[in-house]
Amino acid sequence: MNIKEIIDKKRLGCELSNDEIKYVVESYVDGSIPDYQMTALLMAICTRGMNFNETLTLTDTMLNSGEILDLSSIEGVVADKHSTGGIGDKVTLILAPILASCGVKVAKMSGRGLGFTGGTIDKLESIPNFNVNLTDTEFINEVNDIGMAISSATENIDIADKKIYALRDATSTVESIPLIASSIMSKKLASNADIIVIDVKVGSGALIKNKKDAKVLSRYLIDIGAHYNKKVFCLLTNMNQPLGHNIGNRLEVLEAIDALNGKGAKDLMEVVYSIASIIISAIKGITLDDACEECINSIKDKSAYNKFIEFVKYQHGDVTNLDTNSKVLTVFSNSTGYITDIDAEHIGMLALELGAGRISKEDSIDYDVGIILDKKVGDYVKEGDILGRIYYNNKEIDINRFRNCYTYSLEKIKVDTILGLIKV
Ligand code: URA
Repeated sequence: MNIKEIIDKKRLGCELSNDEIKYVVESYVDGSIPDYQMTALLMAICTRGMNFNETLTLTDTMLNSGEILDLSSIEGVVADKHSTGGIGDKVTLILAPILASCGVKVAKMSGRGLGFTGGTIDKLESIPNFNVNLTDTEFINEVNDIGMAISSATENIDIADKKIYALRDATSTVESIPLIASSIMSKKLASNADIIVIDVKVGSGALIKNKKDAKVLSRYLIDIGAHYNKKVFCLLTNMNQPLGHNIGNRLEVLEAIDALNGKGAKDLMEVVYSIASIIISAIKGITLDDACEECINSIKDKSAYNKFIEFVKYQHGDVTNLDTNSKVLTVFSNSTGYITDIDAEHIGMLALELGAGRISKEDSIDYDVGIILDKKVGDYVKEGDILGRIYYNNKEIDINRFRNCYTYSLEKIKVDTILGLIKV
């Protein structure tokens, strides 16, 4: 096979055969296709697309490039969740203990984040001593012992995605629906849970900017899952403003703890309860409303909070001192009116520049820094009110860049957090 001919074929908009896709992925993983040729092909896929059969073959080849977790020794139905990535997204930290306290097994392999802020693993690592590197046996034992475990995806899982995703990130080839679908599903299938909910973020702070593309992506994700007998649900959620109040790794852990103590932001809890209800209702065969009531009760009676503490202790973390050591700059509003927009992408960029995220895989993260949004879309503010707080260490802060992320009007606007549910 000839990689130049394969690139040409896709550049002209033709369908690639199963053998061609397998050849490309396997040869890129073993190093016989170099980055520059793979980049050319990825860019051709970004502009020309891939049909369902091509996307399925790509997913399958990536999935089989590494180990597939054997969860058969976990009793009962196992749930997993994935987010396409958003600013302030600490949903997993609240969702997993809610589910586990309601008797659902959660086995979640997570990643570190590239981009604006850290991934779930970075957030957990901001807890002193927390061990994110579980062996497969430790991971499975923890799920059997306490009902949940979150571990960093080992190097052996989905080797192709790790290599291809890093290249996509460096070559502006992330934003392609078939590439996103195969990347997500190869990882989720390798983690091997029975029920998977994918939080498809839509808006200015997300990879997917509009609902139409979100629906197309969801269809790919669900249909790929169905091919492997996995139940996949896609929840479309709003990412036109950051989720909740806190952005930045330790700040997000603190917000998750507040949420588990019944003090969660409205938009954040809507996403958490929606995902939890979908999973509980599918597993227990009860209505979404009844499932939601179970979740709310787990917060009220503290069982979800207690589960979180049990989980942190099991993975050797210490939540007794999570105070951040950074400096804090309070930003006051110089406008009056209802907030109609908070530019999630720019807030994310500010958090990244403070050190909350990483641009390349090798960058280190400053767990202490970040941003707290005291006011959210829909809130009324008067000139002089506190708009937000910036936690920083060694960076010069331009307050106006933060203020400029806010748009105001004289009329209150309604914000929908949940934009739709797509299922088989
Ligand atoms: N999340 C992933 O896991 N992969 C992508 O390609 C995009 C978002």
